Amino acid sequence: MRTLVVGNWKMNETATQAARLAREIVDVLSMPPYRAKRSVDVVLAPPFTSLAPVRDAIAEHDVALGAQNVYWADSGAFTGEISPPMLLDLGVRYVIVGHSERRRYFGETDEDVRKKTQAALAHGLRPIVAVGETGDERDSGKTDERVTVQTRAALEGVTRERLSEIVIAYEPVWAIGTGRNCDPTEAARVIDVIRASVAGLDDVPVLYGGSVSPANFAQYMAMPRCCGGLVGGASLDAQSFALLVRIAGEARP
Ligand code: PGA
Repeated sequence: MRTLVVGNWKMNETATQAARLAREIVDVLSMPPYRAKRSVDVVLAPPFTSLAPVRDAIAEHDVALGAQNVYWADSGAFTGEISPPMLLDLGVRYVIVGHSERRRYFGETDEDVRKKTQAALAHGLRPIVAVGETGDERDSGKTDERVTVQTRAALEGVTRERLSEIVIAYEPVWAIGTGRNCDPTEAARVIDVIRASVAGLDDVPVLYGGSVSPANFAQYMAMPRCCGGLVGGASLDAQSFALLVRIAGEARP
């Protein structure tokens, strides 16, 4: 199973700033001891407006480009949306779908997430499907049910062969951007629940996300079933992001 460290830059950085940050990241990753980390797939997911400059900044480096969202149609009258072929043409290889901020602020449903996942797969983009419970759902004992429902909905109709293209991220909503990261043992338990929710997920990488930092990431990587991180805040600083890549590489040489 691959190990991934994905930087989700969210709605941060202008195109100019993003190009600079991407250059800083590849510069740090090109230096020892980071260079020896090739067991880890590194993905940068900047805003749409920064995809091209970040692509140029990471060209020649072993870093992949990701997008934060995608629409399911190929083209048409969908003002403001971005299609899979548009992303592919820019060199995008991964796309985050179903991030809790999309679900919460933009009303994305499980059905939308399913359509996006299928559209991404149909075009050869690797979806990073984000699932996770809210604080209220956790408090009322609904965590397992919630992640099971979300995972099943997102992957409905995906064939067994295609599952190998998927990445899943367990992101408890209450842990995102709050500094309250989920207890790693509990995260590993929920990751197992996610894997058990759909047949054939045993070999699918499942990442943890939610206030990941260089101070806590090794604890997640110590969990054999956790395959890396989906990282927001700590991905906006080149040194800390590179440190996360290093921690992942050391845990899975
Ligand atoms: P965070 O965000 O690392 O800032 O908590 C993670 C995410 O939303 O993917």
